[in-house]
Amino acid sequence: MINEMTTVLEPTAMSDFVETKYIKDITHRALSYFEAGFPVHFRGVSGTGKTTLAMHIASKIGRPVVIIHGDEEFTTSDLVGGEYGYRIRKVVDRFISSVLKTEEDMVKRWVDNRLTVACKYGFTLIYDEFTRSRPEANNILLSILQEKMMDLPVGRGNGEPYLKVDPNFSAIFTSNPEEYAGVHRSQDALRDRMITMDLDHFDYDTEAAITQAKSQLSRAHVETVVSIVRGLRESGKCEFSPTVRGCIMIAKTLKVLRMTPSKSVRFMQLCQDILASETSRVGSKTNQNRVKELVRELVEQELDKKTAANRIRKNLKSRSRNNSPVLQV
Ligand SMILES: Nc1ncnc2c1ncn2[C@@H]1O[C@H](COP(=O)(O)OP(=O)(O)OP(=O)(O)O)[C@@H](O)[C@H]1O
Ligand SMILES: [Mg+2]
Repeated sequence: MINEMTTVLEPTAMSDFVETKYIKDITHRALSYFEAGFPVHFRGVSGTGKTTLAMHIASKIGRPVVIIHGDEEFTTSDLVGGEYGYRIRKVVDRFISSVLKTEEDMVKRWVDNRLTVACKYGFTLIYDEFTRSRPEANNILLSILQEKMMDLPVGRGNGEPYLKVDPNFSAIFTSNPEEYAGVHRSQDALRDRMITMDLDHFDYDTEAAITQAKSQLSRAHVETVVSIVRGLRESGKCEFSPTVRGCIMIAKTLKVLRMTPSKSVRFMQLCQDILASETSRVGSKTNQNRVKELVRELVEQELDKKTAANRIRKNLKSRSRNNSPVLQV
């Protein structure tokens, strides 16, 4: 008998999912690769939207979803299944009330894990950060993706050596670059069986739209925050580039504390705390101080730009009202 202990998710669209031209384009390309029968792999640095896109695309495919998060400790049986537990059977002899007969037998029960369940029923597999698992644990995927056959270990209930992968099965992979801590180099053979789409940080419009959707801050304030974070990223002076998560954290904090971006010490500290920690390794004091100084300059620069833009807007307004020439700033 085969038992399954797997959480299967019903994919639904995220209520605050942002769909800009950039996102639509990636989604469209990825879906066309699925249609052609190929698994898709989103590869990129942290915060480039890989996991969110994988979930979004799974919701477009419309099949139930099984998610696996890559893990250094994984073995093949964590993906495929194994023999778990034992059963105790008690037989109470009711003919002679003074007799209690207990039988204990150990029966190994095969339990399918998530990968087997997805292959068997044709679900969509999201294997998030798959290169965090050791390459040998992922070998099982080679025949699944190529021959659409899954090798089954001896001992799986019905004794069949293979499982034919359901034609509706599809797989989405995500991974971080190899230089990230805890990430293994993916096998060439596995990479060769999927279409890899390299994702970069979001474009300005998408980053601003995501920040606004997540924080509910006004568009003008969101733009200031996003410009500061992008300025820091483009400076190329950080150990790690700040991500959209930095924008979201600053914007959400501003919203909750009912603050607005200004040259105040509080706003400066908020940006410095979030961005210096996000962009430096633990203990790198020198780098943190350098980033903090850079953040201070960027905050001042952005707010000066905003003040100048506001002044021009006001002048234009009063000019149209009085029909007088534009004041120079
Ligand atoms: N299209 C989108 N709409 C709304 N929010 C988004 C979208 N894409 C990404 N996000 C948000 O941006 C943040 C980063 O996205 P995500 O976690 O998908 O990145 P990732 O590339 O998987 O990062 P990591 O490599 O660190 O796992 C999350 O807070 C996520 O909710
Ligand atoms: Mg992720």
